[in-house]
Amino acid sequence: MHKILVLHGPNLNLLGTREPHIYGSLTLAEIDQRLIQAGAEAGLEVRTLQSNHEGALIDALHEARDWAAGVIFNPGGYTHTSVALRDAVTSISIPVIEVHLSNVDAREEFRRYSLISPVCKGKIAGFGWHSYWLALHALREILQPAR
Ligand code: DQA
Repeated sequence: MHKILVLHGPNLNLLGTREPHIYGSLTLAEIDQRLIQAGAEAGLEVRTLQSNHEGALIDALHEARDWAAGVIFNPGGYTHTSVALRDAVTSISIPVIEVHLSNVDAREEFRRYSLISPVCKGKIAGFGWHSYWLALHALREILQPAR
């Protein structure tokens, strides 16, 4: 069974109470539980991690090389600023899909720019927790093509 890392960046630990009109009312624990369940149904083992710290996210990406078949990554605010996270994604050979709960392209100008997107397999944004769900199924297709 393929193992998938779902990696959440800064401030996503506050989901549920953080700007629910933008990010929804589900807590991070509820989203993680749904993804673990959806993964099991799709034949994927999902492991989740959240950090507010850039270095911890980089470490998690490096470590994923040794155990994960792919990564679903919401870099939060680091999306728009972090060369170091971009380099970490570039440095690992497993597929990484960038996700966002909100439709970043329909928000403030600075959110339209992602340092991470160009080095990812693809990007899914704007579907709330289903952005992660869609990314999970995209990874399943990449790892176990139906045809
Ligand atoms: C976010 C979008 C980012 O612009 C923001 O800084 C976040 C959350 C999202 O999931 O919509 O923290 O990544």
